[in-house]
Amino acid sequence: MRTTVGIIGAGPAGLLLARLLHNAGIGSVVLESRDRAYVEQRQRAGILEQGTVDVLRAAGAGERMDREGLRHDGIELRFARERHRVDFPALTGGSSVTVYAQTEVCKDLIALQLKEGGPLLFDAEALAVEDADSEHPRVRFRHEGREDVLECDYVVGCDGFWGVARKAVPAGLSRVFERTYPFGWLGVLADVPPSHDELVYARHDRGFALLSMRSPTVSRLYLQVPEGTDAGSWRDEDIWDELDRRLETDDDWRLERGPVTAKSVTPMRSFVHEPMRHGRLFLAGDAAHIVPPTGAKGLNLAVGDVVTFARALVHLRATGSAERLDAYSETCLRRVWQAERFSYDMTTLLHRAPDAPPFEDRIQLARLRRIAASRAAETDLAEAYTGFPFE
Ligand code: APR
Ligand code: PHB
Repeated sequence: MRTTVGIIGAGPAGLLLARLLHNAGIGSVVLESRDRAYVEQRQRAGILEQGTVDVLRAAGAGERMDREGLRHDGIELRFARERHRVDFPALTGGSSVTVYAQTEVCKDLIALQLKEGGPLLFDAEALAVEDADSEHPRVRFRHEGREDVLECDYVVGCDGFWGVARKAVPAGLSRVFERTYPFGWLGVLADVPPSHDELVYARHDRGFALLSMRSPTVSRLYLQVPEGTDAGSWRDEDIWDELDRRLETDDDWRLERGPVTAKSVTPMRSFVHEPMRHGRLFLAGDAAHIVPPTGAKGLNLAVGDVVTFARALVHLRATGSAERLDAYSETCLRRVWQAERFSYDMTTLLHRAPDAPPFEDRIQLARLRRIAASRAAETDLAEAYTGFPFE
């Protein structure tokens, strides 16, 4: 098998890249190790920056998002039983975010790809990227029980944190920057209208809680839990009780309960692999970097990477200049590190480490009160949350 761009992974990064390349008349093949149902059901965050919305729309993948996505003009910070709303458009000159689940983005892109794009192979596991540093990189993969080779001009590793693409960068050239956190998120989906019309991020002495949503009738809620927690060990009633405690306010706000339809635990980590390119192998999305979900940046970063790659390849074809492709890693990493910084700030602002000294609690409250009291501090949060423009 032969193609121009071999794409490993059909998460949001790989699927959007295939779409962008198709629109530019550039051939690609997508290899995905899991089956279609699995990819379409995986629960992930669902906050799209304006830049992400614009890219999906321009790529012709925005029809359902425009119909069903919910525009959000702010978030609420909750701490010490107080509530503080951050008004995005007022602070940023008009920016907002859109609530539209990542699973829905993936469904839309898969449907488009199967209808009019290049090959998208499910149950096709990449085994290794070979000769990344040559003119003819290859992906060895297994599909329907047989081993095969995909010969490419370029390979883009969109295969997530556990993928194989990153391993093709020689150890001596790789640098990894990492931080793990001693807690995770227990996430539930519940068939109940969200109890607030915007997301609520709560800091509590018992730990962080988040109220989010998937639609006007489905709530998405999270609790900070100790690292390694088994989701099955939490009874639904105990989850609601704990959410009640952590989200409680001094006014008459109430949390509505409903049937829990899904429950899982997400670990938290910050991770960056540098460089994001080796020869003709490019890493994009979670294959190159992970952010803790507190800032909801994972999907938006993945979109930034593949847009940068697609534009650079189009530029090369139009002008003969590889300058932008050569700058891929540096260009992406500037944006990546801003998102890493923001996600780290949000995580340490709102979570309670198990052994945190009382000093840390007071500092967290002081940081939150500073955001509530200072337009400058609040603007910093609003700008980062709604997203920085693509370069
Ligand atoms: N061969 C083929 N496919 C693979 C392989 C492999 N060896 N290893 C992993 N994959 C697939 C996974 O099954 C998955 O579908 O690669 C895909 C990677 O997708 P994601 O993990 O969704 O990563 P990405 O597309 O970069 O999207 C980033 O995901 O984790 C969230 O918060 C993050 O929203 C962000 C988004
Ligand atoms: C979600 O709705 O899943 C979600 C929202 C905001 C976050 C993380 C996850 O910061």
